Amino acid sequence: MASPTPANKISAAQVRADFNDLPAVIHYTRAAHELGLWQSERILIERFFPDRTAPLLEAGCGSGRVSIALWKIGYGHLTAFDFATELVDQAHSLAAERGATAIRFFVGDATALGQCHPIDDKAPTPSPDPGAPVCHLLDDKPVGGPRGFGGALFLFNGLMQIPGRENRRAALRELHRVCVPGAPLLFTTHDRESSLMERALWRMEAYHWERGDQDPRLPEFGDRYFEDHAGRTFMHLPVREEILEDLAATGWRHTFDAMRTDIAKESKAVRQFSDECRFWSAVRA
Ligand SMILES: C[S@@+](CC[C@H](N)C(=O)[O-])C[C@H]1O[C@@H](n2cnc3c(N)ncnc32)[C@H](O)[C@@H]1O
Repeated sequence: MASPTPANKISAAQVRADFNDLPAVIHYTRAAHELGLWQSERILIERFFPDRTAPLLEAGCGSGRVSIALWKIGYGHLTAFDFATELVDQAHSLAAERGATAIRFFVGDATALGQCHPIDDKAPTPSPDPGAPVCHLLDDKPVGGPRGFGGALFLFNGLMQIPGRENRRAALRELHRVCVPGAPLLFTTHDRESSLMERALWRMEAYHWERGDQDPRLPEFGDRYFEDHAGRTFMHLPVREEILEDLAATGWRHTFDAMRTDIAKESKAVRQFSDECRFWSAVRA
């Protein structure tokens, strides 16, 4: 469950409102319709998720760009969720249009999966006991064998759009809770140390934080909040060590990480949609 954010800081509610706003809905829906999987995503998904029959969970699915593309290349047992209802609505209708009706879409917050509810159910299903390890993602239609997902994805930096490190760890713990032992996890982040330019920018930002004249809305050093054609975006940019610590603290064993440019050369359309990022893979311990 997410920790409360101080009133003057960017909160999960603000991030959700930003993703439900029209410019973001248009941006992510267009990508779902036109872009599909990045080359790097496809290479790593095929490497780390070789079993196309395994039940997979996509967190932060947005308008369905990844799930619908996965269904198209033969992944047959997909569940996807996002906390932005407008985006999940778009994902649901694009899946219907493409015949991908087997994908189960939910509205839910990655930090509290027990409160997930089906897309056509506008009100969250109240959990009988908020402390109980209940997840409607699973209870709704139990998956075969040991109950749980055989893998999880949180692509295009969605995990880093959760304000507060403890909340990002809560999301990793929730994914751990609903996955079976040995399940792979794939996600992306930015990297504050990926280039000389980034390092120089973050040295300047550190100077602002030392003086206390950083953007007062930012909960932590490493955060950014900006506005462009895709609307308002909150993003936490970590260093590599931080993610290694977060994985270890939440029951995930790190198996791989690399910058996107070291995995594949992306098309111009993909590079216009998304900046350079670091891919991470881990296995549920
Ligand atoms: C950059 S968008 C990527 C969307 C989609 N995966 C794609 O690649 O087009 C990040 C997504 O993460 C979702 N997200 C952020 N925080 C979330 C949370 N706590 N729970 C569920 N979804 C979240 C946002 O609503 C948004 O749809």
